Amino acid sequence: MKALVLVGGLGTRLRPVTYSVPKQLIPIAGKPMLYHVFDLLPPSVEEVVLAAGYRAELVERYVRDHPPRIRVRAVREAAPLGTGGGMKNAGGGLSDPFFLLNSDVVASADLAAMERAQRRSGGIGTMALTEVEDTRPFGVAALAPDDRITAFVEKPEPKDAPSHWINAGLAVWRREVLDRIPSGRPVSFEREIVPGLLAGGVYGHRLSGYWDDAGTPERLLHAQRLLFDDGRGADPRLPSGSSGQGPVAAMEGASAAGATFGGYVTLGPRVQVGTGARVTNSVLMDEVLVGAGATVEGSVLGPRVRVPAGTSVRNAVLAADGEAPAP
Ligand code: GTP
Repeated sequence: MKALVLVGGLGTRLRPVTYSVPKQLIPIAGKPMLYHVFDLLPPSVEEVVLAAGYRAELVERYVRDHPPRIRVRAVREAAPLGTGGGMKNAGGGLSDPFFLLNSDVVASADLAAMERAQRRSGGIGTMALTEVEDTRPFGVAALAPDDRITAFVEKPEPKDAPSHWINAGLAVWRREVLDRIPSGRPVSFEREIVPGLLAGGVYGHRLSGYWDDAGTPERLLHAQRLLFDDGRGADPRLPSGSSGQGPVAAMEGASAAGATFGGYVTLGPRVQVGTGARVTNSVLMDEVLVGAGATVEGSVLGPRVRVPAGTSVRNAVLAADGEAPAP
């Protein structure tokens, strides 16, 4: 079994951080969100193929320097081809069926059960679905009593949403779906291809545990909470010499002696939090400096951001000066 993970999006909703860092490498609960997706893969998966594009070189370098337990291979696209175009571009050599995963999903999902359901159904695909109140940002499924998907509408107005069950960004597909995707142009798999696949039998696999899509600052911080609360934060103890409330995941070389925490914090590699500073519900990426007595709350701070001593940053997404804008 192989898994295709889509990592080529621009991540516009997490700008300005994503001007320099691809979304998948933003750490939550102590490791990049891409690695939490790797954690979902069942033992049947022997290779992950990354459909990469935007800032692909950074994703490839990170994976080379931090090898996950599963073999990973990246296939680049020269310009963003959308989800379907990315699948087509990277899809050579996939298994039949294969997993298709978004790289920003945080979930308690049993993908082995989903694989079994796909093999039992004999259909063309199985999509994990999760129930949400506000369906507007998502693809929404209409379901028959046997959970066969009878309609799929991408980002509908609330009055047009056929249910509250949305595409959770985790699926198993027969390899033949790749033949339905045109080559050489951007294609949205969800909008252009999935509706035409329904006649071949696409089944919903309803998730009952937690789920979020870490694509916006608020959702990213919420996803981090979910992971910490599920015990999936890497070594979530308070950094030495600090006080207050965890969980706090401190990555290599992070220090925070004399600082106070309010919980649900990731300190990226070599972050320094000054004495008397307080950090709560935030992600601080590589080499962020928080000055003495400063406060950081509800924020995502990109690499090398400096928070001057005694100042406050609340509900912000910041990148350091001088970052190059996206092409
Ligand atoms: P926004 O710009 O904030 O919407 O983020 P995004 O670009 O990541 O888009 P979205 O969250 O809708 O993408 C869902 C998944 O598809 C993510 O895992 C993306 O990395 C991936 N994706 C989106 N567009 C492309 C693309 O053009 N090529 C590839 N290979 N993957 C893509």
